[in-house]
Amino acid sequence: MKKVKKAVIPAAGLGTRFFPATKTIPKEMLPVVDKPTILYVIEEAMQAGIEDIVLIQGRGKTAIEDFFDISYELEDKLIKDGKADILLSIEKIRSSVNIVSIRQKAALGLGHAVRCAKPVVGDAPFAVLLGDEITITNSRSENITAHLCDQYERNHASSVWVLPI
Ligand code: UTP
Repeated sequence: MKKVKKAVIPAAGLGTRFFPATKTIPKEMLPVVDKPTILYVIEEAMQAGIEDIVLIQGRGKTAIEDFFDISYELEDKLIKDGKADILLSIEKIRSSVNIVSIRQKAALGLGHAVRCAKPVVGDAPFAVLLGDEITITNSRSENITAHLCDQYERNHASSVWVLPI
């Protein structure tokens, strides 16, 4: 049984429920305390042992992939000002996971977004994490994606995490 090493993160939705906040800012980039939502999502995937992240992007969403690029001027200033620790969370992601970006040419829904990852994922097992959804658990060390990957490896079947509302 192959281990789950790939994750697909759909982030190409139009974000109409958060309009007008999402008119020019992807909802996945809206901050929760001091970090954009997508950073929590990618950290969860990374901590679950994911090595390749396939981001599904759409029009107006380039801020998400730009976020993980090196910003030389800004980063140089932070280092010179003795604030390098601020960069740690992003640096950890850059050095631990590969981020691949795929364009969903039209927002045709979540299922279609996941399907767009096929050329990169192929037949490998993969996790899907929503780019706009973070889950708060009772214990800080609990990782939902890691649970789902364990279930997959134990039962040899797809697993879904649902939230009662
Ligand atoms: P949502 O249904 O919450 O996103 O999809 P949405 O379509 O942006 O929602 P509205 O417009 O506020 O109702 C869950 C995740 O799937 C992505 C979204 O970006 C979100 O992270 N998604 C959704 C896509 O990647 N492509 C789509 O066509 C739809």
